Amino acid sequence: MRFEDVHNVTMIGAGTMGAGMGVCYAQAGYQVTLYDVVADSLEQALVRIDNSQRVFVEEGLIPEAEAQAARARISTTSDLARALDGVQFVLEAAPERIELKQELFRDMEALCPADTILATNTSGLSITAIASACEHPERVGGQHWANPAEIVPLVEVIRGEQTSDNTIDVIYRITEKLGKVPVVVQKDVPGFASNRLQFAVLREALHLVNEGIVSAQDADKTLKNGVGFRYPWLGPLETADLGGLTTFHSVAQYLLPALSTMQKTPEFFDRLIEEGKLGIGSGEGFYDYTDCDRDEILRKRDLYFIRQLKLLREIQSL
Ligand SMILES: NC(=O)c1ccc[n+]([C@@H]2O[C@H](COP(=O)([O-])OP(=O)(O)OC[C@H]3O[C@@H](n4cnc5c(N)ncnc54)[C@H](O)[C@@H]3O)[C@@H](O)[C@H]2O)c1
Repeated sequence: MRFEDVHNVTMIGAGTMGAGMGVCYAQAGYQVTLYDVVADSLEQALVRIDNSQRVFVEEGLIPEAEAQAARARISTTSDLARALDGVQFVLEAAPERIELKQELFRDMEALCPADTILATNTSGLSITAIASACEHPERVGGQHWANPAEIVPLVEVIRGEQTSDNTIDVIYRITEKLGKVPVVVQKDVPGFASNRLQFAVLREALHLVNEGIVSAQDADKTLKNGVGFRYPWLGPLETADLGGLTTFHSVAQYLLPALSTMQKTPEFFDRLIEEGKLGIGSGEGFYDYTDCDRDEILRKRDLYFIRQLKLLREIQSL
């Protein structure tokens, strides 16, 4: 399959990610089919797409006419054979269970044209293990998005052990065409690159709170207002270069041995789970949300992300 020949794409699973990724493909000009085994998921996906497009238009990220044209390119079905008929690119976003994904990839391969590229949005399951269900694992690769898919720029392009160079090239170029920022992860390691970085920070934050060094609020405040303030513009290696490598190298000598290497979640985190304190959805997690307007918190988060995206685009075009 050549990048230029990809026109029809199918999302397998139309939940949070399938809907969000589907609308990005449609906005880039692709004909999109959303497939799901649950009819209600397909209806909800279309509602979610309409809502997200409305916000994008209101915020001036896309013109109204473009949003309408993109919406017209999206169709839905619960029939897998129909979803895969004549398709050039498939992106799987079904629940994160290896047996389910392997079964889906077996079926997808049987129903798709011989050269269709098969990608998965798995959060961290092995691409190689998913592809092992296929007779042609060379056409299977990862395309890992972050939530909300319509907003977050990064998309990881992941090479399984048998993924061909052509498959990586097609997924990479499609990702660029979507206006996203592709990063090729050359080895199929747990957590790929982005979750490894995210969880390295989470581990240290859990350690700092567990040891009573700072409160949860202050761990978040430290990151958001210090190191994290720079992150949209400067990564950790760029930060070191701009600060001067001698200092960073000296600090690394005494600090790396002092950082957390915990292999298990600390007890206070396990206890939250046992007590059903699962985060904002349950009313409490590391923070207490019982007296808060939770919808407002989520609305503000999305608005903040959209404004940040606009600012990044503006700065990058300077
Ligand atoms: N939500 C996130 O933050 C996020 C981020 C990156 C990657 N992912 C990954 O994306 C994938 C989907 O996650 P999500 O958050 O969209 O989940 P979700 O639960 O919102 O959606 C999954 C959808 O798959 C459908 N489904 C179930 N069985 C199916 C089948 N056999 N065939 C087709 N569809 C089926 C469900 O009806 C549901 O609509 C997972 O692998 C997840 O790990 C999620």
